[in-house]
Amino acid sequence: MSGFSTDWLSLREPVDHRSRNLDLQAQVLSYLEKIKTVYPGSVHITDLGSGTGSNLRALAPHINSVQYWTLVDYDLTLLKAARSTLLAWADSEINIPTGGSNVNLLDPIKPISILKQSNTIVVKFKCVDLFNDYQTILNEPADLITAAAFFDLVAQPWLTQFCTHLSKPLYTVLTYDGVEKWSPSEVIDADILNAFHQHQRTDKGFGSALGPAATQCLENLLRAQHFTTICAPSPWILDHHDSALIEQLAIGSAKAVREIGSVPLFEVNQWEQSRIQAKRCEIGHIDFFCYKA
Ligand SMILES: C[S@@+](CC[C@H](N)C(=O)[O-])C[C@H]1O[C@@H](n2cnc3c(N)ncnc32)[C@H](O)[C@@H]1O
Repeated sequence: MSGFSTDWLSLREPVDHRSRNLDLQAQVLSYLEKIKTVYPGSVHITDLGSGTGSNLRALAPHINSVQYWTLVDYDLTLLKAARSTLLAWADSEINIPTGGSNVNLLDPIKPISILKQSNTIVVKFKCVDLFNDYQTILNEPADLITAAAFFDLVAQPWLTQFCTHLSKPLYTVLTYDGVEKWSPSEVIDADILNAFHQHQRTDKGFGSALGPAATQCLENLLRAQHFTTICAPSPWILDHHDSALIEQLAIGSAKAVREIGSVPLFEVNQWEQSRIQAKRCEIGHIDFFCYKA
């Protein structure tokens, strides 16, 4: 169990999808159309920290090609949910060879082949702890590595090694950038955010996490490896239509702040009660694409 529930991931999915930076996404799609793919006539994408497959559901409908996706996560429950959610999302399931349907330790879930808006999408699921096994995943043939809401969890030493081994284009979306604006603003917001950022930097399985510094660090490391890099904002702009997400966000942030312990408890509780009912807030994210020309 990773601590990311299917309920939380499905609550954020529609907001994640509408928040993605469409200009950057268009550049990624155009890049995929121009390159000579690993296997002609199809696109191979590996999604890191896939959860239930939200990133696939956002991107796949825009790729007019046969697609092979590998969803990588260390949480088997989420991968099983990914399989069933994708089957429900698809227009239909089809029966074509999935290229290695043997169920083994790393692939405990049977691959699926689905049709969505006339596109054929073959999906494999890999249960892998990326802290240890990222090299195996990076070495597999792929035209693009993707991730959504993942890189803020990783630590600088791990990211440095990851970037050293990365030779493929990388497209990461919705990495937290540390900006939060709650309306109306309150004096206590700054202390709450400060404590929340401290919590962001605690160990999430990779060592002390980069949190809001992740995309900048990724960009610096990959520029040094002669990748062309592009960053673009993808903030969640939440209003009264997103009240369920706002409520969970306030509860989750307050819980993290309590764990840090730097803000008096009654102030955290007060902040939580007022923010649960907030009608507007903005949470900053950054999308990032890099490739070698
Ligand atoms: C915030 S969730 C994002 C999930 C999904 N990408 C999405 O956008 O809905 C982070 C994901 O990273 C996965 N994760 C965290 N640490 C991991 C690790 N060490 N190895 C593999 N996956 C990991 C979690 O299980 C979770 O699914």
